[in-house]
Parts: sequence; structure tokens; C-alpha cells
Amino acid sequence: MTQSHPRISKAVIPAAGLGTRFLPATKATPKEMLPVVDKPAIQYVVEEAVSAGLSDVLMITGRNKRPLEDHFDRNYELEEALSRKGDAGRLARVQESSDLATMHYVRQGDPRGLGHAVLCAAPHVGDQPFAVLLGDDLIDPRDPLLARMVEVQQREGGSVIALMEVDPAQIHQYGCAAVKPTGDSDVVQVTDLVEKPEAGEAPSNLAIIGRYVLDPAIFGILRETEPGRGGEIQLTDAIQKLADAHLAGGSSVGPVHGVVFKGRRYDTGDRGDYLRAIVRLACEREDLGPEFRAWLRRFVTEEM
Ligand code: G1P
Repeated sequence: MTQSHPRISKAVIPAAGLGTRFLPATKATPKEMLPVVDKPAIQYVVEEAVSAGLSDVLMITGRNKRPLEDHFDRNYELEEALSRKGDAGRLARVQESSDLATMHYVRQGDPRGLGHAVLCAAPHVGDQPFAVLLGDDLIDPRDPLLARMVEVQQREGGSVIALMEVDPAQIHQYGCAAVKPTGDSDVVQVTDLVEKPEAGEAPSNLAIIGRYVLDPAIFGILRETEPGRGGEIQLTDAIQKLADAHLAGGSSVGPVHGVVFKGRRYDTGDRGDYLRAIVRLACEREDLGPEFRAWLRRFVTEEM
């Protein structure tokens, strides 16, 4: 197929959630700002968007989310103090987050679900395909996923979602996809989607993980999507309608594909997984890793 599709340059990051699983840490601090080693979780997500070529980032925020805006902005006082001390290393670390991407913010107002959060991006995104990255899902920077999804979307058009095989006992925590194979071993075509299926009703063990490249037709569908599971407007339900419209034919809406991810992913919204992410990423850091690994080995063999 030689058809060309509009280039993708915009990323949307919903970040309006309350972070109740991390209370009391998240009483006055957004959960997205919790550090993973020495960077807030959200910075990994913005870096992931940028490394997939998307440098226009819109965050969907809410009350108490000002620290997110401050983190991706300049902090002249701190920069001034660090340069007076001649601390070039830390100065560079501080400037990294403000130089990453062109940041935009919009508030969700009423928290009416993920689908509603994505709909808040409509005026900014316009009529181009765009990416959505959920802040709770941290994809290991060495296992690029979004870049592959963008590549598939540019070839096939339509929308692309990220899927991952999970233990069938866990599938009720995710959106779940029924799929059929394509000529690419890591790409499937999505035929059905169910948000958080009840035990025994999941069409597969393929879970949606928080990365999406979406056709802008999603906005019109979201406007008409009734609240679903949990009384919230579900993004999964709207993507299901995109897939249906395509499969029914006679519609200009493109297909929905899934990229099946086999790399490392951490759910930083879950306390256990959050700790695992920190340990793994700390072990692999050049500066902290050698000493931390040695300590961890001693800790596991002698104290556990
Ligand atoms: C959301 C989506 C769900 C997806 C999950 C991935 O759920 O609604 O389809 O599987 O993110 O992390 P949430 O975890 O926000 O309840």
C-alpha cells in the first residue's frame, strides 16, 4: 500500500486522576510527580513521546496539578543558583525537562472518565491522527513501543493500540481485545474490545496497555459515547465503535490495529509495580547501578 497518511506530531497525556492508590503521598502532590529513581514518572512518558517523534504534548490536567506545569517550565531561581555554584551537571538535569517538548495544558473539569479526558484534546488536536499515552504505564525506554505504533499507523492508516499478553487472572483490570493475525508477527487487527471484562467473559488475554495512536474520528464518536463501565465515558468503547465502523465497510474510518508488546512495562499506578520499576531502573543506571546492585545482592542473600 503506498497511500500516505498525515504525519503524527501530537501526543496527549491524560493526567487528571486523583492517585488514590498512593495516599497519603498524593494528598498534595500529583501522582505523576512521584519519582522513579530521580525523575518524576511523567517525565519518562514525555520523553517516550519525544523519542517517537512527537514533540507537541498536551496534558489533560485537573485541580492540584500545577506541579506538572512547573516541572516542564523553566525555574530561573534554581538555574541561577546552580550556575552560580558552577554545578553544570545538575543545571543540565534541571533544564532537561523544560527543553523536552512544546507543552500545552487543558483542564478536564469534571472527571468523567478516560474517554472524556481524551475528548478535551479535540480543539488542540484538530483533524490529525494523534497519540495518547497514559501516565500510569511506564514503558522501559530500551523497548520502544510508541515508535513502532506510529510506523504501523503511517503504513495502515486508522488507529493503533498497544496490547500485551497478561495472566488471564489479571485481564479484568484492563481493556481486552479480540484480534486476528496480519502478515506482521507483532501486529494484529482488532475485531472487538471489552473494557474490564468479568471473569470468564474476556475474548482473549490481550490487554490494552496505555498507548494509543488514534484517528481523529474518535472525537465525534466520543461525543456520542454513553458512560460505560464504572459510569465513565470509556475510551475503549469508542475505539470499539471505530473498529466496528471499519469492519462494517462503507465507512471512511480506517482499521484498528494492535501492536503486541513483548518488552518491559511497569504500572506505576500500582505500588508493587512502582517499587519494581524503581529497583530495575536503578540497577541499570550507570551512575547508581553498580553500588546499588551490590547492595541489593547482599540484601537478598543475607537479610531475606
Ligand atoms: C485504562 C483503560 C484500560 C487499559 C488501562 C491500561 O484503565 O481504560 O482499557 O487497559 O488503562 O493501563 P485504567 O487503568 O485507567 O482504569
